[in-house]
Amino acid sequence: MIYLRTRWAAIRRHPILAAAALLLVILCIVFGALIGFLPGMAALAVFAVFVWWVVLEVAAWRRRSRHTATDSRGETRTAVIAAVGVVVIGFGLMQAVPYGRDHANPPVTGEPTWSSDATRALMVRACYQCHSSEVQYPAYASIAPTSWAVQRHIDEARGAINYSQFATDPGEADETIQVIRDGSMPPAYFTRFGINPGAKLTDAERDALIAGLEKTPGMAEGR
Ligand code: HEC
Repeated sequence: MIYLRTRWAAIRRHPILAAAALLLVILCIVFGALIGFLPGMAALAVFAVFVWWVVLEVAAWRRRSRHTATDSRGETRTAVIAAVGVVVIGFGLMQAVPYGRDHANPPVTGEPTWSSDATRALMVRACYQCHSSEVQYPAYASIAPTSWAVQRHIDEARGAINYSQFATDPGEADETIQVIRDGSMPPAYFTRFGINPGAKLTDAERDALIAGLEKTPGMAEGR
């Protein structure tokens, strides 16, 4: 209880700092939502604040044990330096995580019998960056944490349907036409901010793709 009261007092002494930290966390979460990685970014932000808090506790404890007097400005400086340290060191450590760094593609076992080359070309543009064994990783897939988001999307996408392995595992291919028609694929986050513009199909292209898929076996239930 006493601990909480003294911490609350510390937060009240530094309202701008506390508000800035909160704002950063919210920005992280909003960014996470926009890139389709909300849980991951939320966990990262909360973890960063936790580490920051621990660092500040240790600093305060050392000050007390040395009986060094501190003023509010000293506290602010420590908190800002600690925050920058946590972000810089944390960012560096994230790059060392192996997940998302192996950009190798699994084998190709056989694609659907596309009704035409044009149908295949549209599928490659809109879907193959996730649902295939021909993924060309974009530059932002080499920097954590976005590399983690990209890898997770690709893992999940291939788990649902990998068109390069349709011959051995059609997965949920029979929902292909449906997800294009209802607009849920490609996911909105994939073409947001002007990234991957090639995956954004015009209405005419979408109609042409659906027409081509109607004549491709396995792209809708019962067909
Ligand atoms: C940015 C990566 C990405 C792209 C591009 C993408 N998908 Fe997906 N797709 C996913 C993920 C992740 C899932 C699984 C999770 C989910 O349902 O959102 C999925 C699921 C699916 C499923 C399974 C049914 C379902 O809704 O869960 C189908 C079918 C599918 N996608 C088809 C397509 C087609 C067709 C395209 C191209 C028009 C496409 N996807 C483009 C990531 C992608």
